[in-house]
Amino acid sequence: MRFSVRVRTMTLAIVAVCLASCSVATDPVVPEVIPDSVVGAAVPALDPEGIPGAIPVVMNTDGTAAVRAHWVYLNGAEPYNDHVDARLLGILDQHAGGRYNPSVPDTGKPSMANGLKLNDEVILAGGPMLGTRLTRSTTVNGSTTTISVTTEYTDLSTGTVFGGSALVSAEGVETIRKLLVEAEQPNGQHPEAPAGPVSTTAGSSDAAPSQPATEEPLPADLLLGGAAFNPSGELVIPFTADPVSGVAFTTPHVVHVSARAAAPLLSDAGRQMQQLAGTGQPLTARTPAAAGQEHINCDLLPCAALTYDDGPNTQTTRLLGILAKHSIHATFFQQGVSVASFPAIAAAVAAAGHSIGNHTMNHPYLTKLSAAAITAEVQGASATILQASGQAPTFLRPPYGASNALVKNTVGMPMINWSVDSLDWLSRDKNAFIPTVLNLVRPGAVILQHDIHATTVDGQDQLITALQEKGYHLVTVPQLFHGIELQKGHGYFCRGTEYPCTPGR
Ligand code: NI
Repeated sequence: MRFSVRVRTMTLAIVAVCLASCSVATDPVVPEVIPDSVVGAAVPALDPEGIPGAIPVVMNTDGTAAVRAHWVYLNGAEPYNDHVDARLLGILDQHAGGRYNPSVPDTGKPSMANGLKLNDEVILAGGPMLGTRLTRSTTVNGSTTTISVTTEYTDLSTGTVFGGSALVSAEGVETIRKLLVEAEQPNGQHPEAPAGPVSTTAGSSDAAPSQPATEEPLPADLLLGGAAFNPSGELVIPFTADPVSGVAFTTPHVVHVSARAAAPLLSDAGRQMQQLAGTGQPLTARTPAAAGQEHINCDLLPCAALTYDDGPNTQTTRLLGILAKHSIHATFFQQGVSVASFPAIAAAVAAAGHSIGNHTMNHPYLTKLSAAAITAEVQGASATILQASGQAPTFLRPPYGASNALVKNTVGMPMINWSVDSLDWLSRDKNAFIPTVLNLVRPGAVILQHDIHATTVDGQDQLITALQEKGYHLVTVPQLFHGIELQKGHGYFCRGTEYPCTPGR
C-alpha cells in the first residue's frame, strides 16, 4: 500500500507543478496505480527510415552475458557515433563484469529469457540536434524490468552532448524536487486529491512517515535524466522509480508537464529542444562517409573482413555483383601485373566502394629479395593500382604472408595478414572452403580467399549469407581496424584480444 501512496503523491505534486494546464492523458497500462494521473505516453521514437543517414543497428549475443541491443548510427556524424559506442561499451563492460568482447549468438535467435536489453531510439532530429532515449532493462526468467530511461541531446555541429536534466534550469529542478518532497510529507495531501483511495492509503503513509528533509536529494540527472519534449511541446519525464522513495516501478511512469507549465522551468537548451521538437525542422545535412567506410565499431559488434587476393581478373566482375547484392564491402589485395591486365576491373572494384590493398607487382616471396627489389615490388603495385583505380593502397599483404626484418623495415606500410585461411585455392570446392571459414571465423577475423578462382566466387553468395546469419557484420579492412593506428612494417592478423589479434581498446 505504501507503494501506491508514494506513486499517488508524486503525481499530485506534478499536478501542482502543472497547475491547471497539465495534460491529463491517461496511460491505459497503469490506471489502477494512478487513477487520476498525469501519466501519459512516452515521447514517440522516430522511425530511422525517416532520418537521412540513420543506420539502425541490432546486436544479439547470448550465453551468460546475453544482450539484445538496438541503436542508431548517423552516417557522417562521427563524434555522435563514437559517443554512442563509448557509452554502450561502458554499459556492456559493466554487464560483462570486465572487458566486453563482441560475440555472435550460439543460436540464430537467442530467447533472451535472461539478459540485458538496451534500446537507444531517436526521439528528436532537427537542425543540428539529435536526441536519443536509451532504455536499459533486464530480463529475468522472461520478465522484463526497466532499470533506467535516459535521454541525450547531441549537437552534431560541435559534438556537444547534454542529458535530459539539462532541459530544465537549476531553479526548475529545485521546484520539481521540492514539490515531490512535499508530496512525501505526512498530511501533505494536495487539496485537489480525490477522496477514496487516497484517504485509505494515506494512513499507511502516516504510519511510516519519511523524513525527506534529511535525505540526500536525488541528483538532477536521475530525477530528470529521461526528460524530453513531445511534438506538442509538453515536457515528458519518465520515472523508473519513485523519485522520492526510490522504490522501483514495474514499468516506467511517464509524467507530462504542459508547455505552458513547463515554460518557467526550462533552461535555454530546454527551450531550444522544445522548439525543435515542435517544428518538424529537418536534421541539418552532413557529408556521409564514403561507401565501404561507414561507421562501425568492431570492439562492439562482431565483424569479419572478407579479403580477396591475387586479382583482379574476369571472375572479379562476377564477385562484385554478389557483394552488391548483399550490400557489403570487401577488401581486394591486388597484384600489379593483374591490375595492368584488367585496369577497368580494378577501377570497378574501387568505384563500388571496396578497399584495395597492395599485393606486390609480381607476387614474389619478399623474403628472398633485396631491399631495392622489395621497394620496387611494393611501389610498382601501388603506382599501377592508383593509375587504374584512383585508389592509393595504404596497406600491403605480402605474398604467402612471408615477412622478415628486412621486409618489415622496407615495405613502408602496414601488413595485413589473415586469421582465417579458407584454402580455397587448394580445394577449389565451396563444399570444402565454406565449412573451413565458418569453423574458423571469430569476431574480428580477416578471411583470406582468392577472387581469381571461379570456384571461390561460386561459393561467395552462400558464404556471405551464412556469415551474416551467424551475426557477423562484413566489413572492409579499414573498417575492421578503425581506431587502431596501423604501423608501417607491422603485421596485423585480426582485431581482438586473443593472440595474434590486435586489440582496439
Ligand atoms: Ni597471393
